[in-house]
Amino acid sequence: MTAGRVTVNGQVITELGFKVDPEVDEVRIDGRLMRLEDKNAYLMLNKPDGYLTTMDDPQGRPTVAELVPVADHPGLFPVGRLDFDTTGLLLFMTDGELAHQLLHPKHKVGKRYKAVVDGVLAQVDADRLRAGVVLHDGPTAPALIEIGEVQAKSLNARERMRVVEGSLEGEQTLVSCTITEGRKRQVKRMFNHVGHPVLQLQRQAFGPLELGDLPIGEWRYLTEAEVEALRMASGN
Ligand code: URA
Repeated sequence: MTAGRVTVNGQVITELGFKVDPEVDEVRIDGRLMRLEDKNAYLMLNKPDGYLTTMDDPQGRPTVAELVPVADHPGLFPVGRLDFDTTGLLLFMTDGELAHQLLHPKHKVGKRYKAVVDGVLAQVDADRLRAGVVLHDGPTAPALIEIGEVQAKSLNARERMRVVEGSLEGEQTLVSCTITEGRKRQVKRMFNHVGHPVLQLQRQAFGPLELGDLPIGEWRYLTEAEVEALRMASGN
């Protein structure tokens, strides 16, 4: 059935489903040596605003699936999710086991966000978030909060439409927030809870991975070292 085109260690293989060991066996097709590398794919996307984190939307809205090479990697899926209007690092892989480990709360993989929040965030509010606040789905784990610059508000028209609380004038604070959980809209709910709604949110790091200067809307494969670092972060 394979018409004698496949050889394993020099032996012609005719049997379908013949098992090979990628570590030791030399497989050739039509004499050409095949690389039997790890078939899983791992990549990161710099997600733009205005895309759903799903591989298929029955309502036909823009999804992140349009931005990554799904045809080359069947089974590719996003690891966790970012909201429609959140930008930044979204990890994709075909490796269900590693994804499961990375998302498991017991491994406490940190996700670092840059948030622009309404108003001037006081240290007392940051301290509440650091200690953990009680949301409707339970208390949040301790978060790392670093207060950055306070700026005059500079919202574009679209962002203005989204602000339901707080004034359009006034100030906004840049904040770096690292959480180890991944509950739905968690960062936004945490800042809402202390009276500073999030105006913009970008994920800058996922565990050991940094978004760096990857342009918005673009993706890149992870390096082997990055995949290894993810395995370490997931406790493997
Ligand atoms: N927290 C949020 O509120 N939204 C995101 O997209 C990610 C984390």
